[in-house]
Amino acid sequence: MLLVLFVACWLQVWTGVAGYTAGAPVGRCGDMTPGHNVTSQTSPSPYTIKVSNTTFSTNQTIKVMIQGPVYIGLLLQARSGSNPIAVGTWGTPPSNTQHLACSGNSQSAITHSNINIKNNETTYTWIPPDSVNSAFITATVVTNKTTFWINLKSETLNRGGGNNAAADPKVAVTPVLFLMLMSTVFQSFIDAPSTTSR
Ligand SMILES: *[C@@H]1O[C@H](CO)[C@@H](O)[C@H](O)[C@H]1NC(C)=O
Ligand SMILES: *[C@@H]1O[C@H](CO)[C@@H](O)[C@H](O)[C@H]1NC(C)=O
Ligand SMILES: *[C@@H]1O[C@H](CO)[C@@H](O)[C@H](O)[C@H]1NC(C)=O
Ligand SMILES: *[C@@H]1O[C@H](CO)[C@@H](O)[C@H](O)[C@H]1NC(C)=O
Ligand SMILES: *[C@@H]1O[C@H](CO)[C@@H](O)[C@H](O)[C@H]1NC(C)=O
Repeated sequence: MLLVLFVACWLQVWTGVAGYTAGAPVGRCGDMTPGHNVTSQTSPSPYTIKVSNTTFSTNQTIKVMIQGPVYIGLLLQARSGSNPIAVGTWGTPPSNTQHLACSGNSQSAITHSNINIKNNETTYTWIPPDSVNSAFITATVVTNKTTFWINLKSETLNRGGGNNAAADPKVAVTPVLFLMLMSTVFQSFIDAPSTTSR
């Protein structure tokens, strides 16, 4: 009974079904769930998080869409590794959604602003920060007042070349591989000049 009340209460807050101001509250930024005792859907999620690019650069926007059935509510963040901190910021929220101030940053998350239908064309814009070299988009999606899905995750997004390249370990490894390859080539010239001549 307590659980039922708790779920009902949470859904009121999240979906505004009883006239609450819509949108997830800041207190739910960390676990992105209604609470420890509340279970969401356990069957496989019908939703997937689609991203426009799995490579990112600081400030170069990534488009994010929730593919699947229409939905009425969501909490959307980008995170890095296992750190429960929202990273980066989100551009102007699409209709029926708004920014939520998670992790002390006023534009670090998106939630719904009403229970109007959002669909697979509703497009959110993530703006990658300087501070991480990999990230993923994570969401809680509310289908209707009795059905919601937590812990949805996109593919991993990795920082590409370009800006902040010095912080990217891949870039540091590449010259080493290149030198190893080159020294192998030179070595073969030195060791067996007759067989490698053109
Ligand atoms: C959660 O479950 C624990 C243990 O079952 C219980 O003590 C606690 O009161 C529950 N909390 C809520 C909010 O239902
Ligand atoms: C993906 O992002 C990288 C880095 O920001 C950029 O160089 C590349 O052009 C992007 N690709 C597409 C298809 O947008
Ligand atoms: C990213 O955008 C912020 C805010 O506009 C700006 O202060 C920062 O210099 C930009 N960084 C890069 C690498 O473009
Ligand atoms: C988006 O939803 C519409 C209506 O359900 C569907 O026809 C379309 O194929 C979907 N698009 C994608 C990319 O899933
Ligand atoms: C909520 O959505 C689920 C999954 O689509 C559906 O089975 C259920 O009937 C819906 N409930 C309401 C009250 O619309």
